[in-house]
Amino acid sequence: MRLEDFPILKNNIIYFDNGATTFKPQKVIDKINEYYKEYTSNAHRGDYDYSLKVDTEYENVRVKIKDFINAKQKEEIVFTSGTTHSLNQVIFGYCSKILKEGDEVLISKAEHASNVLPWMILSEKIGFNIKYIPLDSNYEINIEDVKKSITDKTKIISLAHVSNVIGDIRPIKEIGSICKERNILFIVDAAQSIGHLKIDVEDMNIDFLAASAHKMLGPTGTGFLYGKMDYLKETDPLMYGGGMNSYFESDFTYELKNVPLKFEAGTQNIAGVLGMGAAIDYLKEIGLDKIHEYEYELKKYAVSKLKEVPNIIIYNEKSKSGCLTFNIDKVFSQDTAVFLNNYNICVRSGNHCAKILKDEIGATNTCRAIFYLYNTKEEIDKFVEVLKMQDKIYDNIV
Ligand SMILES: Cc1ncc(COP(=O)(O)O)c(C=O)c1O
Repeated sequence: MRLEDFPILKNNIIYFDNGATTFKPQKVIDKINEYYKEYTSNAHRGDYDYSLKVDTEYENVRVKIKDFINAKQKEEIVFTSGTTHSLNQVIFGYCSKILKEGDEVLISKAEHASNVLPWMILSEKIGFNIKYIPLDSNYEINIEDVKKSITDKTKIISLAHVSNVIGDIRPIKEIGSICKERNILFIVDAAQSIGHLKIDVEDMNIDFLAASAHKMLGPTGTGFLYGKMDYLKETDPLMYGGGMNSYFESDFTYELKNVPLKFEAGTQNIAGVLGMGAAIDYLKEIGLDKIHEYEYELKKYAVSKLKEVPNIIIYNEKSKSGCLTFNIDKVFSQDTAVFLNNYNICVRSGNHCAKILKDEIGATNTCRAIFYLYNTKEEIDKFVEVLKMQDKIYDNIV
């Protein structure tokens, strides 16, 4: 798929760490350069042409995201620094106001730190209970277990669309309709699905959705939070300052701007937002269905080729994304990653910020390859060839 669009690939690198961050196509880099070279200025603050151009470009990205996830209005899109910021914004800005002692919040043991720790911190203050939806024998979430986990006390379900270690695609639409029926708030962490799968917040009954630009071909340091307007109106900002207030006076009276600007205090990551818009254009040009089909095909290919390699443990053979999590039996995952790096192959090793998943899969550390649109079967062949030389792992580590 259009490998020539990604200038970094000239470095002859095999990059499978797409769950951590993705490479950027030239169009995204160009857009960021254009802003810095042609019309650098602040947003929502100037009355001159450059600034008005920035306002238009910046607000156009809101529209692009609205269309990308099928939100009802552009004001339902808040620019943030990424998924972590977005989840914290919802949890501390909104959930803190609706939860009380004894309520239940459902998550899973496969969630990323940013969908676990904020809940832990908030529950210490409020006294609600965090419950885990059980994972099945493939470490995935199935709808029956979601139904069984819900009680009269369940107020919120907060789950990743695609988990970042197992790579299972959760039944978001079904969970969304159950939440709607039972009046449960539904929060979706889309860090690993944005840029891979179609998301329709209306059809899927999602109340809040968190995403990062850098995991969908865009720049780091930017992302967005989607929220249903009624909820966003009730959400308190995490930060206060310039750009988000209508006035404040010496007698301590003040008024905040409307949604979404009340959440965007201070100078925003304007270059990042414009780059995120260019990434969305690029993804739409190729088509998310095509991207998903391609990366899942690569995962299936990798699984079949790894069967030829001795001592490989695969933790997520069944999951239907581009995510492959594995170990070489009795080899520390970081040693495997360093060994692969000697051949210019990048995988992630460790716990992938999903630190309680070890209770389920029985491994504290694993290697993770997440395939994306610029990866190829030839790269997987090379990866498999290197893993076949596993008896050299400790010779090659320098
Ligand atoms: C499932 C999941 N949620 C949240 C995050 C956090 O994303 P960010 O670091 O961009 O805020 C990640 C990052 O790896 C992730 O995989």
